[in-house]
Amino acid sequence: MFHLPLTSIPAQFGNIDIYLFDQLLKGRIRKGMRVLDAGCGSGRNIQYLMQAGVKVYGADISEEAIANVRAMASELAPTLSPKNFVVTDLTDLPFEDAAFEVVLCSAVLHFAQSEAHFRRMLQQLWRVLKPEGMLFCRFSTTIGMEGKLQQVAPQKYKMPHGPVWFLADEPQLRELIYTLEAELLEPLKTVLVERERSMTTLVLRKKVQGS
Ligand SMILES: C[S@@+](CC[C@H](N)C(=O)[O-])C[C@H]1O[C@@H](n2cnc3c(N)ncnc32)[C@H](O)[C@@H]1O
Repeated sequence: MFHLPLTSIPAQFGNIDIYLFDQLLKGRIRKGMRVLDAGCGSGRNIQYLMQAGVKVYGADISEEAIANVRAMASELAPTLSPKNFVVTDLTDLPFEDAAFEVVLCSAVLHFAQSEAHFRRMLQQLWRVLKPEGMLFCRFSTTIGMEGKLQQVAPQKYKMPHGPVWFLADEPQLRELIYTLEAELLEPLKTVLVERERSMTTLVLRKKVQGS
């Protein structure tokens, strides 16, 4: 009897975020779509997408990260232009309005310098998303950690593993979803890591105006 090779899963998907994998399983990212990975880092979340015929774009403030994803793209998806990958702060995305069917932002928003910076980044992610498009964000929040973290400034916390992070709270996220008039594609899902930090996944659909 023929069995599917389990070993091909890591070969195909690499180190993709498990919650992004969940969105793939739900068929929300498909061949031919334009997908921006905002704060793409090493590109672990776009490696598979490049090979799957997705029109991948990336943005990151780190020149080294963008050089690495350009090199990865030239090997895995040579038809993608190196210009798809840009060095920029997420507050200043050099893409047109409604350019992407999917915008990903994984493990970036808790590096915001302030609430204003956090909101400006989210506004940009929302601006470049097409109506009906999906915004997938994963970032640290206070959810489940209320009162257990060392606060050093408004919404800034010294995390048990060392750095100071910006942490959004649940009322703020609910207010944001309301203000953006977004549809929650998934309930807010939060994972507590070693009781030291919580990571929340926010998956939104941009409604067509007037719908
Ligand atoms: C922890 S890494 C996550 C990388 C990738 N998204 C992942 O999930 O593996 C955070 C990335 O966000 C980038 N970054 C942080 N703040 C940023 C900002 N304001 N604008 C653009 N990129 C930023 C960093 O350079 C880094 O590559």
